[in-house]
Amino acid sequence: MAKSRIQFICQNCGSVHTRWAGKCDACGEWNTLVEEGTSGGIGSGPSSLRTSRKGRPVALTSLAGEIEDAPRIASGISELDRATGGGFVRGSALLVGGDPGIGKSTLLTQAAAALARRGNRIVYVSGEEAVAQIRLRAQRLGAADSTVELAAETNVEDILATIADGRRPDLVIIDSIQTLWTDAADSAPGTVTQVRAAAQALIRYAKSTGAAIVLVGHVTKEGQIAGPRVVEHMVDAVLYFEGEGGHHHRILRTVKNRFGPTDEIGVFEMSDKGLREVSNPSELFLGERHAAAPGAAVFAGMEGTRPVLVEIQSLVAPTSLGTPRRAVVGWDSPRLAMVLAVLEAHCGVRFGQHDVYLNVAGGYRIAEPAADLAVAAALVSSLTGLALPADCVYFGEISLSGAIRPVAHAQQRLKEAEKLGFGQAVLPRGSEELGSGNDSRAFQPATLADLVVRIAG
Ligand code: TYD
Ligand code: MG
Repeated sequence: MAKSRIQFICQNCGSVHTRWAGKCDACGEWNTLVEEGTSGGIGSGPSSLRTSRKGRPVALTSLAGEIEDAPRIASGISELDRATGGGFVRGSALLVGGDPGIGKSTLLTQAAAALARRGNRIVYVSGEEAVAQIRLRAQRLGAADSTVELAAETNVEDILATIADGRRPDLVIIDSIQTLWTDAADSAPGTVTQVRAAAQALIRYAKSTGAAIVLVGHVTKEGQIAGPRVVEHMVDAVLYFEGEGGHHHRILRTVKNRFGPTDEIGVFEMSDKGLREVSNPSELFLGERHAAAPGAAVFAGMEGTRPVLVEIQSLVAPTSLGTPRRAVVGWDSPRLAMVLAVLEAHCGVRFGQHDVYLNVAGGYRIAEPAADLAVAAALVSSLTGLALPADCVYFGEISLSGAIRPVAHAQQRLKEAEKLGFGQAVLPRGSEELGSGNDSRAFQPATLADLVVRIAG
C-alpha cells in the first residue's frame, strides 16, 4: 500500500488542506475538515497495479445509431420520467439528493417496482436498512410481490460481485452513497475520499456494462456527512428531492442533466401508501386559497415546459423597529429588495415605516424573475388593504427603471390560468401574440406605476 501522508479534507466541498483549520477556505463552511490518509486517493490503490490497455477511437458518425437507441428505461411514473428527461439513461449515473426523511427511498422503491413490472432486472442495494425493512416498506407501497432484487451491503467490491451474478441488471439503485466504502481507500466510510472512490467505481461499472446507476445522497447542512456535492461533478444527472416541513407534497427538481432538460420538476404528494403523482401542480398550490384577501396575488409561472400557478402572499405591517424587517420564504430576498426599491423610486409607494413579509404558498420555491409583477401587486395590495380581483393572474419582469419587461411562454401561462377558471390577467406588453378572446380581460401596463394606479386607484 502506498505510504500515507496525513491531510485534511473538507467534507462539504472536497478541497484538500495540509493543516487543520476551523473553517474551510474554499467553501467557507465551519468544522468540516476531517483528517484522512492520502493513499486511496484517485488513481492510487489497486489501479496502480493496472497494466495499460490500448483504446480504439471510433468515428463520431458511427455512433449515431447507438445514440438513437441510447436507450432510456422509462418507469411509467410520469412525474419521475419528466424529471429525468424521459427515463433513466443506460450506462449513466444519476444522483438523487435530499434531506434525510424526505422520501428518497420511497420514491426509488416505487420506481424500482414499476420498472421491474416492465420486465427490467433491478437491483436495490441498501446500506442503511436491512432487507426486512426494505421489504416492509415495499409491502406498504403495494410492491411486495415485485421481482426487484434486494441486497444489504456497504462494500463496493462486494456489491459489484453480487450484481455480477446472473443477467446484467438494467438499473442498480445504491441507497445511499454515504454508507459505502471501498478497499481502494482507507479512510472511514462517509468521508469524502471514500464517497468519491466508491462513486467512481460504480460509475465505471455503469459506463462499462451499460447498466443505469442511481446513487442516493443525503444532504446535511452541518456537513458532517460527506456532501454529495463531491459526487455532483462525477455523475451525468443530479435530481434533488425537496419538500417543506408540514407540507405533504414533494418536488423532484433536475439541477444537472447531460441527457435532458434541467428546468423540469416532478411533483408528488406523500401519502400513507407512498408517493402519489400530482399531474396538475397548480391545483395543489392554489388549493388552500381564500378568495380575495388583501396581499394575495396569483403568479402564472413556468417550470420547464409546464405552467404552474401559485399564490404569492405578502404582509406589509407598520414597524416598531428602527430598521424594518424584510422576510421572504420561497423567493429571493435581493429580488424583493429590488421590487421594493422600484416601487419607492418610481411609483411613490413608501415601505420605510413598514415590515414586509413575503411567502410563496404551499412551500413552493420560485426562481423566475417573471414573478416580479405578482410580488409587486401583492405588496401594494397589502399596503393599501385593497384586495386584488380573485380571478386575476400576474406575470412579468420589472426592470430597475420601472418598466415591465416581457417574459417567455405568455400564451401557455394564460392557457393554464384559463383552464383553472381565471378570467383576467396582468402581463407585459409585447408578449407573444395573445389568443383571441383573451385581450378584453388582459391588462398590459407599460410601467409598474400604471399597475399601482390600477390597484390603488
Ligand atoms: P424515506 O423514503 O425513508 O426517506 P429518505 O430515504 O429520503 O430518508 O421516507 C421517510 C418518510 O416518509 C417517513 O417519515 C415516513 C414517510 N412515509 C410515508 O408517509 N408514507 C409511506 O408510504 C412511506 C413508505 C413513508
Ligand atoms: Mg432512505
